[in-house]
Amino acid sequence: MAKIVVTGAAGNIAYSLLWRIAAGDVFGDEPVDLTLLEIPDAVRAAEGTAMELADSALPLVGNIEVTDDALKAFDGAEAAFLVGAKPRGKGESRSDMLVANGQIFKRQGEAINNGAADGIRVLVVGNPANTNAYIASKAAPDVPKDRFNALMRLDHNRAQSMLADRLSVPSRSIERLAVWGNHSDTQFPDVTYATADGAPVEVERDWYTEEFIPRVAGRGAEIIEVRGKSSAASAASASVDHMRDWVQGTEGRWATAALPSTGEYGVDEGLMFGFPATSDGAWHVVEGLSLNDDQRARLDSNIAALRAEAAIADKLF
Ligand code: NAD
Ligand code: LMR
Repeated sequence: MAKIVVTGAAGNIAYSLLWRIAAGDVFGDEPVDLTLLEIPDAVRAAEGTAMELADSALPLVGNIEVTDDALKAFDGAEAAFLVGAKPRGKGESRSDMLVANGQIFKRQGEAINNGAADGIRVLVVGNPANTNAYIASKAAPDVPKDRFNALMRLDHNRAQSMLADRLSVPSRSIERLAVWGNHSDTQFPDVTYATADGAPVEVERDWYTEEFIPRVAGRGAEIIEVRGKSSAASAASASVDHMRDWVQGTEGRWATAALPSTGEYGVDEGLMFGFPATSDGAWHVVEGLSLNDDQRARLDSNIAALRAEAAIADKLF
């Protein structure tokens, strides 16, 4: 029975994510024990979520535990979704959350270092996701860096859907898409290598640079504006996609994952950067892509943004 931890268990994303995990959408038919980590003030609400999970009588679910003790939660954990963090409100940027949220990921990284199972897979969702993953990994020096990822699959899914809509094809037709960089306004949804039903995609330059790129990058803010709260079900769905692909592999298909750079494409080692990647149970950055000047400049602005966030994060240590 695999032990899976979901933090922020009383929150909006978890309310969707937990049922998808419990239904086998991530780990297949393997039974799971679920540990729901919350802050003390929200433990009662998380207990309500746990009661509803139990009431769903899901066949793959074993033990359900609710706790506010991170050491206990991560002890022996084989996978963790680090969702619990403050969402931004209207007019805020995700990096504004770094000071409020960074400390959470330091403490959880330490707890993961203390007792998680070898080979734990950690997906950081709470914003600013890339730098929170950088913090959690830095706080867990005994855990290999590649066990920490950040969620940029939501950006990928948004880009896939918007491109498919533009081309009037189903989103499943689109492949070889990449969202480079940071889960922030600088992110670079890149259609240079994209195909639709196997054929190279051609789009008008103006639409690409003036509409598509800013719309994908600004979609989180657009959802907050329209919905009044940040994305939740789509974030949970993207988290499912990311962890499923990490665990079960992508059979050669590209996905976007924010991974600890080992220097690919000139990204500083250690920065948690969105790359096109394939998985065979471990992620592999798609290497050997040639970048033109425009692509290079867009990657560089993400490197600069992540360096600046990392400099703030480093002060936590
Ligand atoms: P929410 O406010 O509904 O829930 C967050 C929950 O986290 C709350 O119940 C809170 O009590 C809990 N929490 C806070 N500190 C915690 C801690 N130390 N340990 C455990 N739990 C803790 O928020 P939400 O809508 O579920 O969003 C959660 C986070 O995910 C936000 O930071 C949001 O910006 C981010 N997010 C990221 C993406 C992405 O693509 N990376 C997408 C959507 C949302
Ligand atoms: C998103 O992209 O929907 C999330 O990161 C929430 C946000 O603050 O935009």
